[in-house]
Amino acid sequence: MSYGHQGLREERAISRIEEVSSLRHDRFKVTVSINKERPMSKSPLYEKYNIQKYDLHPNYSFAHLEDMIPKNTPEYIDNGQHYVERIVRALYYFKQCALIGPSGTGKTHVVYLVAELCGLPLWEVNCGLQTSSYDLIGRFIGLGKENWVDGLLTQWLRLGGIMYLDEANMMKQDVATRLNPVLDTRGHLVLNEKDNEVIERHKYGYLIISMNPYSAEFAGTKPLNAAMRRRMAVWINFDYPSVGERIAPNEVKMLQKRAKIDYDTAYKVIQVGAELRRQYKVGDLPYGPSLGDLINWATLIYDGNTPLEAAEETIIALTSDNADIQDDVRRVIETVFGNSR
Ligand SMILES: Nc1ncnc2c1ncn2[C@@H]1O[C@H](COP(=O)(O)OP(=O)(O)OP(=O)(O)O)[C@@H](O)[C@H]1O
Ligand SMILES: [Mg+2]
Repeated sequence: MSYGHQGLREERAISRIEEVSSLRHDRFKVTVSINKERPMSKSPLYEKYNIQKYDLHPNYSFAHLEDMIPKNTPEYIDNGQHYVERIVRALYYFKQCALIGPSGTGKTHVVYLVAELCGLPLWEVNCGLQTSSYDLIGRFIGLGKENWVDGLLTQWLRLGGIMYLDEANMMKQDVATRLNPVLDTRGHLVLNEKDNEVIERHKYGYLIISMNPYSAEFAGTKPLNAAMRRRMAVWINFDYPSVGERIAPNEVKMLQKRAKIDYDTAYKVIQVGAELRRQYKVGDLPYGPSLGDLINWATLIYDGNTPLEAAEETIIALTSDNADIQDDVRRVIETVFGNSR
């Protein structure tokens, strides 16, 4: 039996050897590296999430795009929604998914974490109204036809990784129209601008779109166009960990850890945050604080300020510059912190 083990170990050692081949092509050097049995991620958080069975780039290394793989993304907490696992699963089976949730619920954070955990380069585009199809697809610069510069979408199609389209429902119609063929499972892009060059979607090219729900308070949002909606197999709804009376113990713990404050203060900060979020969700406040906003507030408390002093230049000012609304926030803080404010 011991022979069998020995053999297995040797076989593993051999398959771990990196095969690297380089091709020289004019000014560009293309390096393809294949590393069998490469762990999917270098992230210290890798074992925390149940994603080991979904390898998003089997036998393919993105080492040549190492700089674009996020590093040191903080841990992501939830109340059993398993956001990380569901996103990775959606990418594994469908290559793309949509995230929906109010501002500050951690959509961008989770995308960075997924890219890091899966060892994938991240391409990020904010689809707000300023983004043009030139930015996404590319353009000629200067006079000659040889000076074509790929836009971000084109680069992602060629090189792979995760394309993250933030605020996808704010996208201009002409941009959305160009995007639709790319979002088909065997997607490709035809560069009409550049002699109709056809660019196939990279074998490991994944796409995540995110947006705030369509409602009055998110100025500029509109329902996602039907063509894009149809092409997304999986939709994941995001919410804050603590809202109203529901206080998530892991959000309190995370705040305590990140801002280094005591448990009692951390609990109260989350209670205030949860109440402000509740009021925001029913339309009474213009903004609901994210965990990141609450960490900023708690950091100033840690620095020696009273909760109310620390709140003045953090969550009170952040919520609104309208004096009446700021008073509403102060009242919530006073109710929760009582005399200790
Ligand atoms: N569940 C969570 N775990 C850890 N940190 C979180 C979580 N949710 C939010 N945060 C933190 O809150 C802040 C806001 O999160 P993020 O920017 O990802 O929100 P968003 O949903 O992308 O918002 P927007 O819609 O405005 O872009 C960040 O500092 C993020 O790290
Ligand atoms: Mg975001």
